[in-house]
Amino acid sequence: MAALHEHDKHAFFLPDEAALSAFGSAWAAHLQAPLLVCLNGDLGAGKTTFVRGILRGLGYTGAVKSPTYTLVETYRLPETAVNHFDLYRFQSPEEWQDAGLDDLFTEHALNFIEWAKLGGDYVPDADVLIQFTHHENGRLLHFDAQTPAGQNCLTALPNNIGGDVV
Ligand SMILES: Nc1ncnc2c1ncn2[C@@H]1O[C@H](COP(=O)(O)OP(=O)(O)OP(=O)(O)O)[C@@H](O)[C@H]1O
Ligand SMILES: [Mg+2]
Repeated sequence: MAALHEHDKHAFFLPDEAALSAFGSAWAAHLQAPLLVCLNGDLGAGKTTFVRGILRGLGYTGAVKSPTYTLVETYRLPETAVNHFDLYRFQSPEEWQDAGLDDLFTEHALNFIEWAKLGGDYVPDADVLIQFTHHENGRLLHFDAQTPAGQNCLTALPNNIGGDVV
């Protein structure tokens, strides 16, 4: 695909958990299925917190647990299904196929994957990559669109949906 312009990269600073969660909630309104967002970053970098915020923004009020042990948690919402994957415990990329995870990538699905690199080439191409890093006592998020669909959902970001642009 054509090279994306520099303005397709966005960075935000979220000083605490509440800010990160609220940022996810605000972004949720701009997400359109089908979509794949890969969340990269160290243990405790805020990936699950962010997905929890997105689910809150989509109106889900129940518990949002880390899928570290279950591999994937699916949330069925009125207009979409949210699949939240965590591949942290993968011993080999083939586990993606063994678990039949491709079947969850329907046209109505919003997909979020933590530790996607452990799925190797089995993981479909992401529309958006988000890099989470620790910064001071908060977190930095770098967004990177990889496809036109990814670019679409990032257009809301410069308008400051919350979070400090860095
Ligand atoms: N913006 C923030 N600033 C400071 N602390 C935060 C922020 N966001 C989340 N935290 C805290 O950091 C931790 C992040 O945990 P979380 O489970 O979201 O990380 P994760 O990236 O999903 O880790 P893992 O790779 O282990 O699944 C939580 O303890 C949360 O309270
Ligand atoms: Mg997590």
